[in-house]
Amino acid sequence: MCNVKKQCPCDALIEQNVCPCAGEKPAAAGAMTPLTKTVQKAGCASKIGQGDLKRILGALPEVAHPNIMVGMAAGDDAGVWRLDERTALVQTVDVFTPCVDDAYLFGQIAAANSVSDVYAMGGRPITALSIACFPIDELDGAMMREMLRGGIDKLNEAGCCLIGGHSVNDPEPKLGFAVTGVIDPQRVVERGTARVGDVLVLTKPLGTGMVSFGGQLGRVSAAALEEAGKAMATLNKDAAELMGEHGAHACTDVTGFGLAGHLVELARTSGVSVELDLSGLPVFAAVEHCLAEEILSGAIEKNQEYAMAWIRNLDAEHKRNLPILYDPQTSGGLLVALPEERAEGYVRAMRERGHAAAAVIGRVVEKGAGAESEVRIVSAKLENFIGRKEEGVMAEEMKAAEAQGEGRAEDACCSGGSAAAQSCCEGGAATAGEGETHSDALAMFKDFMKAANEPGLIDKRNKKLMAIMLSIAVRCTPCLRIHLKSALAMGITKAEIDEAAGLAIAFGGCSALMFYKEICEELRIG
Ligand code: CO
Ligand code: CO
Repeated sequence: MCNVKKQCPCDALIEQNVCPCAGEKPAAAGAMTPLTKTVQKAGCASKIGQGDLKRILGALPEVAHPNIMVGMAAGDDAGVWRLDERTALVQTVDVFTPCVDDAYLFGQIAAANSVSDVYAMGGRPITALSIACFPIDELDGAMMREMLRGGIDKLNEAGCCLIGGHSVNDPEPKLGFAVTGVIDPQRVVERGTARVGDVLVLTKPLGTGMVSFGGQLGRVSAAALEEAGKAMATLNKDAAELMGEHGAHACTDVTGFGLAGHLVELARTSGVSVELDLSGLPVFAAVEHCLAEEILSGAIEKNQEYAMAWIRNLDAEHKRNLPILYDPQTSGGLLVALPEERAEGYVRAMRERGHAAAAVIGRVVEKGAGAESEVRIVSAKLENFIGRKEEGVMAEEMKAAEAQGEGRAEDACCSGGSAAAQSCCEGGAATAGEGETHSDALAMFKDFMKAANEPGLIDKRNKKLMAIMLSIAVRCTPCLRIHLKSALAMGITKAEIDEAAGLAIAFGGCSALMFYKEICEELRIG
């Protein structure tokens, strides 16, 4: 759950009084543990990557039958089976780990996500079976009941009945549903049937992966988490119904592979290219904060590895915004390709039904003869922010932290001593006020940090050099910045620092060297 580039130890570790530097690991989850802290990868980030999937599934035997309208080979959102001339079944299954701490909300999100693949085909979900994985010996069974209650309530809202299920005793909680829907065989909306001239509409804001990940690290506000949770629990029912009424040509839902991954598949299977304009792209306001602070999960990198081969960015100035395209979505919106003259009406109708974020994000264009499909980003500037700006919200939530010192809590990490005003010990107070246990843990942590920073059997200078070494070893940017500055202020020479860094580099290799050089250059220490 840690971002190695950033603040360490994070709030999650401080809360549990765990020191990773000493090789400690968080204890097994107790009954009161927030759901997302019981899993390694939250929500759709728990999916297996697109590249891996293709490689593994490619070698499977073909399944052929005249009634299969959309099968495994299509790799579409759901399979479609023709029953007769008037009715086809739409079937799909989706299971994932918690992306929010509230069990009831997680159940709602899991259900909304599972029925979404039926909606993405233009179908109507009718029945569902639950798949629940739960560490019954470690967590309170009431949590599992709440998860399922949330799921049933959301399925009922979709007009879909839960008629059975299966459970597994599993160290990590997971929930999902196998959903069956129905559709008129003439009205199946596939992913690979977008046409040149179509306009692309996205129906929900992007960024649930970043916001959830930031939440796990305690680095986005409760308000941002709530907004994302609400969006994830929203059904794609209206989006699907209206898509039918507005003559959509193609559709897919945006989930674990991120907007780029799903868009690339839409373009490639349709044999077209796509122009994307991020200035129209609806994103959660907290995304700006996550991008600036590099609160980026490993899943983003994984998605990027696969999809980037088809992405052409024409806007170098705003390229730091590109990670949003690879952010894995949990229960994201529908990505709909529809005729240009119908797009405006579709967006308006969506907004009238309360889906304010629905917006045009790009258009379908011809691909060069014999060339690969590509996704051309004509503008990477983000302008369409949904919800409250993170900065203001964080400021409110951090009043306690500010009372203790001048710096922003995220600025730095595990330094005590004179630079303590910017240290993550104080940063922990950003989430203070959650109860006594936390402040006790915080106090113990502060004592520990004090011992680590003050002279004892090892003198202050050597401790400082060791701190520099360790900051390089754990790639902690804020720590290294602070320790370098304070080392120079203490009169330690650059040559001495280089020697200490050399030890870290001897163990950490080339990437440690790059990391050290980069920070030195940034601080102009030559
Ligand atoms: Co650190
Ligand atoms: Co899907």
